[in-house]
Amino acid sequence: MQFIVSFILFCLRRLMGLWYLIRGPEIIGSAYISANGKPFRVPTPSNDHVLITSNDHIRELIDAPHQNLSLHAVAKEILQPKYTMHGFEWQDQRGVEGTGFVRALRSRLTAHLPAILPDLQRIVNSAIADELSVPSADGFIHVRLFAMIKRTVTNVNCFTFFGEELSQNAEFTTAALEFPQTVVLAAEVLRITPNFLRGYVASLVTGGHSAAKTIFRYLEPIVQQRLALRVIDGGSSQTHAPVDCMQWLIDTSPRKTPWSTPRMVGEIMAVWFGSVHQLAMTTTYAIEDLCLHMEYIEPLRSEIHQYSANSCGRNVEKMPLLDSFIKESIRCTNSDAITVRRKALTPFVFRDGLQVDRDDWVCIPQRGMMYDPSRYSDPAGFDGFRFARANKILREGYVPVEVPDRVPSILTDVSADWPIWGLGNTACPGRFYASTILKLILVCILDEWDCRLLAPNAPRSRTWRSSIVPRESTVILFHRRNNC
Ligand code: HEM
Repeated sequence: MQFIVSFILFCLRRLMGLWYLIRGPEIIGSAYISANGKPFRVPTPSNDHVLITSNDHIRELIDAPHQNLSLHAVAKEILQPKYTMHGFEWQDQRGVEGTGFVRALRSRLTAHLPAILPDLQRIVNSAIADELSVPSADGFIHVRLFAMIKRTVTNVNCFTFFGEELSQNAEFTTAALEFPQTVVLAAEVLRITPNFLRGYVASLVTGGHSAAKTIFRYLEPIVQQRLALRVIDGGSSQTHAPVDCMQWLIDTSPRKTPWSTPRMVGEIMAVWFGSVHQLAMTTTYAIEDLCLHMEYIEPLRSEIHQYSANSCGRNVEKMPLLDSFIKESIRCTNSDAITVRRKALTPFVFRDGLQVDRDDWVCIPQRGMMYDPSRYSDPAGFDGFRFARANKILREGYVPVEVPDRVPSILTDVSADWPIWGLGNTACPGRFYASTILKLILVCILDEWDCRLLAPNAPRSRTWRSSIVPRESTVILFHRRNNC
């Protein structure tokens, strides 16, 4: 009898979870308010999410061994890489096959940013100029913003990952843009597909894995050649080693038991996967916020002018108002209601007794935190320079609510108060690069274009599970500024 009751309760909970698919951020938001700082549970169709906010819980979450609470198992569950990524299989546990990708992005890419900045600026500027080249009869260029930004980010990321030649190859860049989108779509369909049909359905939804196959076809010979060079003379020790992420991923891959070419290409594609979508969403929202809050445009332009171009490109990372504006845009319009997702590979009990069942996820409800009046003054209002102002007040010796840690707050911070990049040793290794690209795109638009939303009151996003994705239909009107 007890078994039957538990089974019925379980089914009811999973059914309630269906609501989460279409109302995820709202459900999490109201549960956050009711929980009043305590942990809470949200049912989803496949498992429960245990949401935590206290510093003690968060510290325990970061310190938990990856074999208990795993980010990679979450990625595996969301993306079904075995089916969606051209047969490439991921491990449940991080680090089993090395974490070279973290060194490649966090250390090498970040260290190379000053040197490649002029190229990144050139590519961003020319991608945006190409996008905004055909005015309509009214003199404005009408653009679907999200699609435009996805293409722009894909172009510049292709340069950073694969070098100039591939970044100018239309077949390759189209596949590079399509690959993550079809993976996400296919993975979502696969989550409700019985096991035995998954291979077939994945192939159907991804069009026979056409984008993945195109990328593979282009990368395979290049990677094969670079791996061979590595065996001969250590690869990057050559004076003319290519300066791109693909090379750094090869350099930091295991040496004792080197990966085969297909394996190496699979790793590169997996890292590529995460580089476009979140960056494109964040940039899209930031541009929309510029259009919605025009009063920030002139101060931001003056700042750009103040730090204006020199022959090595603009140091966009030095601009405090721009950093603050983007940070506020992320605070107000985050593309996900939760962050720092970890799947329990074993049952997990926090020190205070909070239990997480096997297969449930532990997460941080970042959106609820960003709208919490105990964390931010007037949290519902858009205050583009709140972080710049808080930093200034801090320098004067006071401790504003926005910077409780008493260190100036910047976009690339990683802390329990700013978990948008994740936390601990899995915190996003691409965040310094992402911040630079976001800022380069905003500087280009502020500098050369006037822009406004075609329908400022129309909804800007749609939700699915916990994601808050920009609407493809949002149109921006661009007009080249007179001084350009
Ligand atoms: C605005 C843009 C971006 C945001 C908001 C973002 C956010 C995140 C978050 C929340 C995580 C999970 C960390 C955790 O749970 O502890 C993550 C991981 C990761 N991100 Fe990003 N990311 C962005 C852009 C990028 C870019 C451009 C790249 C590549 C150049 C990148 C590469 C990665 C990788 C490889 C991981 C996995 C880290 C690991 O498993 O150790 N991300 N990112």
